[in-house]
Amino acid sequence: MNKIVLRATGLTRKFLEAPNELTVLNGVNLTINEGDSVAILGASGSGKSTLLHLLGGLDNPSGGEVQLMGESFSSMQERDRDRARNHSLGFVYQFHHLLQEFDATDNVAMPLMISRMDKSQARDIARTVLKKVGLGSRMLHMPSELSGGERQRVAIARALVIKPKCLLADEPTGNLDGAAASAVFDLMIELTTAESMSFIVVTHDESLAARCSRRFRLIQGQLAEVL
Ligand SMILES: Nc1ncnc2c1ncn2[C@@H]1O[C@H](COP(=O)(O)OP(=O)(O)OP(=O)(O)O)[C@@H](O)[C@H]1O
Ligand SMILES: [Mg+2]
Repeated sequence: MNKIVLRATGLTRKFLEAPNELTVLNGVNLTINEGDSVAILGASGSGKSTLLHLLGGLDNPSGGEVQLMGESFSSMQERDRDRARNHSLGFVYQFHHLLQEFDATDNVAMPLMISRMDKSQARDIARTVLKKVGLGSRMLHMPSELSGGERQRVAIARALVIKPKCLLADEPTGNLDGAAASAVFDLMIELTTAESMSFIVVTHDESLAARCSRRFRLIQGQLAEVL
């Protein structure tokens, strides 16, 4: 029996922009098992980022629910929700959001230090993860001294350093050229597969989506599996 990491049931999200009510998601159901790699496709404005935010517990649905490891976000206190998110989910965005005044190692060590690990131990673990993303020779570089693809690798290392159950990525390669995008995408699949981690990625790129084990398309507020 597969272990369910994330489950969305009857998920709706409406935005109340007078005079119109905008229904972006309208009854989305999705089950993510341990080790799944899932691509979410859809036109601009179809609600992909909205869906990813809800799956990550960063936004509240208008209806339905999201369960992380069997527990509904809506039933958790704010503090427990933050803790569940920080322990179980890693996020990667289109723009890396690295801290400019810290080197690559500190950027990756940051989530560990935030959860109170001491700095030298956190930096040790950060170095191990930086080697895994192929940046063993860039560990002391500042973000401004790295290429776009390298920065995105640091962002991936930072997301993976806490060993999340699921990596959520919103257009993680949207800012990179073809070859760098391809390499960064493959790296995310390789690293998540190696750790039996689930991976949910929003992408416009059909050829990248084809590398995931499952694909879904958001159309008119509903999620359809692409078979
Ligand atoms: N906070 C908000 N308030 C009002 N409307 C919103 C809000 N957030 C998103 N929307 C609307 O919801 C729709 C879906 O937005 P979303 O960002 O999820 O699209 P997307 O599929 O990620 O698009 P893109 O591919 O361009 O990133 C859009 O029409 C957007 O205008
Ligand atoms: Mg988006």
